[in-house]
Formats: sequence, structure tokens, C-alpha cells
Amino acid sequence: MNASGANSSPAHSEPQDNFAFIIHPIDPKRDVSRKYPLLGKILTEGQINFFSRFFPPVYISHITGIRSEATGKELHGWFIACPFTPKTMLSLPVETVYRKIVACGHKAEELGARLLGLGAFTSVVGDAGETIARRLDIPVTNGDAYTVYMAIEAVKEAARRMGIAMSAARAAVVGATGAIGSVCAELLARQVPELTLVGLRQDALDAVRERCGGQMARVRTSTHIDAIYDADLILTVTSATSAVIEPEHLKAGAVVCDVARPRDVSVRVAQVRDDVLVIEGGMVEVPGPVDFGFNFGFPPGKSYACMAETMALALEGRYEDYSLGKHIAIEQVYEIGEIAARHGFKLSGFRSFERAVSDEEIERVRERAAAARLGGRG
Ligand SMILES: NC(=O)c1ccc[n+]([C@@H]2O[C@H](COP(=O)([O-])OP(=O)(O)OC[C@H]3O[C@@H](n4cnc5c(N)ncnc54)[C@H](OP(=O)(O)O)[C@@H]3O)[C@@H](O)[C@H]2O)c1
Repeated sequence: MNASGANSSPAHSEPQDNFAFIIHPIDPKRDVSRKYPLLGKILTEGQINFFSRFFPPVYISHITGIRSEATGKELHGWFIACPFTPKTMLSLPVETVYRKIVACGHKAEELGARLLGLGAFTSVVGDAGETIARRLDIPVTNGDAYTVYMAIEAVKEAARRMGIAMSAARAAVVGATGAIGSVCAELLARQVPELTLVGLRQDALDAVRERCGGQMARVRTSTHIDAIYDADLILTVTSATSAVIEPEHLKAGAVVCDVARPRDVSVRVAQVRDDVLVIEGGMVEVPGPVDFGFNFGFPPGKSYACMAETMALALEGRYEDYSLGKHIAIEQVYEIGEIAARHGFKLSGFRSFERAVSDEEIERVRERAAAARLGGRG
């Protein structure tokens, strides 16, 4: 159970409500170093990608201290790592990736987990959890419904803080044909007057545009990233393994909510564009004195939305398959939003490229954007 020497497994007095969540390395050297400092130091990225194919699932840590604000119920859980990186998951046959994720699920079952959450790319591959759920005894959720809910909340809050009225904003969704992107597009179409959908396949974009029909927004589509240039608010959530949004794609004052892991926004944006606001989508404050037992890159007490969905369902006693597949219903997004809010999960402060964004910083972005507009840039 604790083969990797991480923190200890739970005692018998642990609360009965529990979950397991699968994480995986995204930035191979950085993330392997978090668990195995020496290996992370000596192996190259290529070597990590190669050796990860032969690695078994890894027990990472025991998670404690989650407590519902509504019921006082306590919850514990476990992180299990799937050793594959996003590039490995996209390059191997999908059946090979399913087998590895199912092996992680079996590890969760051995631990006694009652619900399994799929993190980052383990929820992207193939049919987004449906096959995995069929092959496991415990219920599974891919976390997409709450990821959508929190991404939209983050966009609205960032717009408010940048002084952009949703009712007058031009918005764009990049990766609009995906499981998360398509529902985000449908929800944004109800809230803004102009919406641009960007993806790789025109036929799939047309289908999403149809789903957005009859709402507030005039919707256009494009297979070119340049189409986001006039957007005030951009929600980006592609499955690309390298950056798709570069500094020249953004106008001054734009807000970009990057939900993708690995991220869609190039680090060059942080280096050369101090007149745009880039935030990570979906960082959530977890109720209770939570200890994840492992540093996955967020400040203490904060989680990804997909992790929070798994925890909220367990606190609600909903030990059943939840978000699965590539078509998440809007009703499910609202339902998990309501469940999570009741138990005390909430949108956390903003982060951008691994650090917190302060109110003063947002004010400076607004000032620089105003100056850039006066100077004729953007
Ligand atoms: N922050 C969180 O809590 C959280 C939770 C879950 C997932 N995620 C992340 O969210 C992202 C998307 O997940 P998903 O489940 O929605 O995946 P998905 O269903 O595979 O959707 C991704 C979409 O991106 C499109 N795409 C790929 N490369 C593109 C590019 N260069 N430009 C424009 N569109 C592109 C794909 O188009 P095609 O269909 O044509 O290939 C696909 O429609 C992943 O990075 C995942 O790790 C984050």
C-alpha cells in the first residue's frame, strides 16, 4: 500500500467517507522530482517519458482533513499516480493507456476507496472515463462538470475585477470542441453578446455552434488562433501538449483563463505582456484543514476543480459514476456547483504561472492596458 515511502495509510478510526484521485506528471522533470528528487535530477525528459511506460501505478499520499461546512462530515482520500505524461498518453495506443489507468483504479480499490476521480489527461484519453468506469468496481468521475462550473466562475470574477461587463464582452473559447470547452461555450453563449469558438475541425465547431444557438451570443467559429485577437475574455482548454496562445494573439486588457494542463498559454505571455491578465482556471479552496500529504504545485488547502468534484461527491454520499464521457450536461454542471458550494468549496484567489495574483497586480494590468489603448496598441 505504501510502497513508495509516502505518508502512512489510515488508521481504523478514519472516517468511512473516502475517495481516491489519480494524478500524473505533466512537466516530467519537475513533477518526478516532487516524488523522487534524485531521479528527477539525473533523468532527461526523454528518459522519463520512456521509462514511465514500464512503471507501475504509484501510491503517492494519504489526504486528510476535508470537512463539510454543511454537515461537519469528514473525508479522507488517497492520491495515486499514473506514471504516464501527457505526451506518453497521446503517443501510446489508447488500450495501453486504459490498462494503466485501470491498474491505478485497482490500487484505489485495494485501498478501500469508494469513488475514483480522474485527473488531467487521465480524463482526456479515449472516451473520457467511460471505458475505465466499466472495467472497475468502484464508481468513477472525470471531474469535468465542476471544472466547467469553476472555469466560468473564474472568467466572471476576473472580468469583474478587470472592469469588463459580461453583458458587453467579446468572449472566445479555445478548444471549443472538447468535453470541457463545448459546455463552457454553451454557458458563455448565455452571458455575452459575442462568442468566438476556436478548434481544429470545422465540422465539430459547427456542431458546437449549433448547440450554442438561440442564446444571447452571436457565435462565430474559426480554426485559426488569430481569431481570438479581438476577445476581451478568453477561456482556453485544449488538449494540446504545447502552448497555443502566444503574446501576439492577445489584445491589451484581455483576460485569459487557462484551464488546460499542460497549460495553453505560452510562458512568453508572462514575460512580455504585462497588459493582459492570465489566470489558471479552476483553483478551488477546499473546506476543512486539508492536508494532501503531497505538493502537487498548489498552495496549501487548494485543489484543482476536478479533484474538488470527487471530494464534493464523496461528502454528498454520491458514490456513483458522475461526470463521464465527452458530453457533459449543463444540468450536471449546475448540480455539482450547488453540491460543492453547500459543502464549502469555493473559487480561490487567482494564480498565474505558478504564483498568486494580487489585487495590486490586477490594478497595474488595468492601467497598462488603458495606456496601451491610448497609445494605439490593442
Ligand atoms: N483544471 C482542471 O481542473 C482540469 C480538469 C480536467 C481537465 N483539465 C484539462 O483540460 C484540457 C481539456 O480537457 P478535455 O477533457 O476537454 O479534453 P478533450 O475533450 O480532448 O478536448 C480538447 C479539445 O482541444 C482541441 N484541441 C487540441 N489541440 C488544439 C489546438 N492546438 N487548438 C485548438 N483546439 C485544440 C481538441 O480538438 P480535436 O477534438 O479536434 O482533437 C479537443 O476538441 C486538458 O488539458 C486537461 O488536462 C483541467
